[in-house]
Formats: sequence, C-alpha cells, structure tokens
Amino acid sequence: MKKLLVLENLSVTVDGTKIIDRLTLSIGDGELHVLMGPNGSGKSTLAYALAGKPSYSVTAKKIRFDGKDLIRLSPEKRARLGLFLAFQYPLAVPGISLYILLPEMARARHARERKKNEQHLTLASALAREQQEQLKEVRTQTVGLLRKLALPDEMLYRSLNDQFSGGEKKKAEIVQLFAARPKLAILDEPDSGLDVDALKKIAGAIGELHRSGTAVLLITHYSRILKYLKPDRVHIMHHGTLARSGTADLAKKIERFGYESLLAKQKK
Ligand SMILES: Nc1ncnc2c1ncn2[C@@H]1O[C@H](COP(=O)(O)OP(=O)(O)OP(=O)(O)O)[C@@H](O)[C@H]1O
Ligand SMILES: [Mg+2]
Repeated sequence: MKKLLVLENLSVTVDGTKIIDRLTLSIGDGELHVLMGPNGSGKSTLAYALAGKPSYSVTAKKIRFDGKDLIRLSPEKRARLGLFLAFQYPLAVPGISLYILLPEMARARHARERKKNEQHLTLASALAREQQEQLKEVRTQTVGLLRKLALPDEMLYRSLNDQFSGGEKKKAEIVQLFAARPKLAILDEPDSGLDVDALKKIAGAIGELHRSGTAVLLITHYSRILKYLKPDRVHIMHHGTLARSGTADLAKKIERFGYESLLAKQKK
C-alpha cells in the first residue's frame, strides 16, 4: 500500500522545550490509526506540527505527505494538499460562519481533485457551471449532515464556535471535514466531552468519511469510540515518542491496565 504520511525521527521543540523526540510513524493511504497516550505526552503537539504551526521548530529525517516534503510548507499549502486538522479545542472565529466557510473548503477540495485528474477546464462558463454544481452539492451534503449529527440549521449562520457548546464545536469540526474531504484527517479528541448519542453520531460520521477513502489519525483517550471504528493500528505516545504500537486490542489493554502499568511492563 502507498504510504500517505511518513515521519522518520521527527522532533519538535516549542519555546526551547523538546516535546516530540525522534518519533517515527507511517500511515498508508486510507488507513485509520489511533493515537493514545497520557496527558501531556505530546499528541496535540504532533497534530499541530503536522498542520504546520509556525512557532514550532521541527526537524526530521523524513516528514513526507503524499510524496511531498512538508518541512518548509505553510499551513495553507499543507491544507491544500489534503491535510486537515480538527482541533482539540476549536477556536471561535467571529464573523465567519459555516455557511461562508464550507463552500470555500469544498472549492479547495475540487481544485485539488481537478489538479490530480488533470482536467483543466479553460472555458469560464464551464467553470462557473461546475462551481454552481459544487455549491449545490455541498449544501445538500451539509443539510444531510446537520440532521445526522442532530445540529439545528441555525448553526450554519452563527459565528463559528462562538458560544457553541463543547459538543456543538466537535460536531462543527466534523461538518467541515466533510466539505474538505481531506486525504488525511487528524482528529484531536473528537470524542471528548460528548454525550453517548453524540459520540455514536460522530463516530458514525468518521467511519463514513474513512470508508470514502480518507485516512485518519484519531487522537483519543477512550477505547469506547472504537466500538464503532476499526483501526488498522493503535499507538501509545509517551514522552514525545511512540512507546508501543499494536492492533485494536492495545486500546482495550490501555483501558484495562492503564498507561503506567502497561508502559512499566514493557520496560521489564
Ligand atoms: N510553549 C510550551 N513550552 C513548554 N512546554 C510546552 C509548551 N507547549 C506545550 N508544552 C508541553 O508539551 C507537553 C505536550 O503537550 P500536548 O498538548 O501535546 O499533550 P497531549 O498529549 O495532547 O495531552 P492531552 O492528552 O492532555 O491533550 C505538555 O507537557 C505541555 O505542557
Ligand atoms: Mg491534546
């Protein structure tokens, strides 16, 4: 299988502190990987580093996404290549609603896919027609998604994440994900703070996206989301590196034994 993300000896230093230390990980096209690990082990830092957070100092033997070296690429270029990060704590964006944002995300995705297919449309009228179609498609999809996630339509018009509840923020990230349809979605705790019904809905939507071909790096603290999703690999991060990798069973072991005992066992 083609490797979509290849990280070799990735280190990340933030404000003089080394947080990720020689981490090696690769994710194949369309795979679902789960990243777990104690609080403060560096999971969100890894997610931000991959998305290209400017204040981070990153070194790596290899940091490749879809065959391209990421090291010097801006966050915007990485997003345009098809890398999407859903935040652990989504920020409020006053003045920007999903209604404004989603068509932009869909447009960027279509531009990426057009490039891939090398269908260069030259006629302005054909392009305008295509954009109309895309707009219709993203609207229909969004309405369906709002119903599935039990979000009211008015969420579309409010400033993004501004006074959204915790669960609404997580759902709004998923709605964006469907418009962007990235090659790799990095989801930082999409399941934290959700009630049982919301968890099932969000897990269902992530599963649907994954089945449509998006690779997923899912950061979570709870194996309960894995009742609905089938990961290819589960990794445990500890002190900024991957201490252990395995199958879905590893997530169950974490729940049963806890990190301290699992990681101690490994040392012996
Ligand atoms: N600017 C900074 N200066 C020093 N340390 C930092 C800085 N930013 C983050 N850290 C530290 O890096 C470590 C990793 O943080 P990170 O948010 O990546 O952890 P995490 O694995 O996502 O944890 P959680 O499960 O609680 O979300 C933490 O100990 C954090 O305090
Ligand atoms: Mg985190």
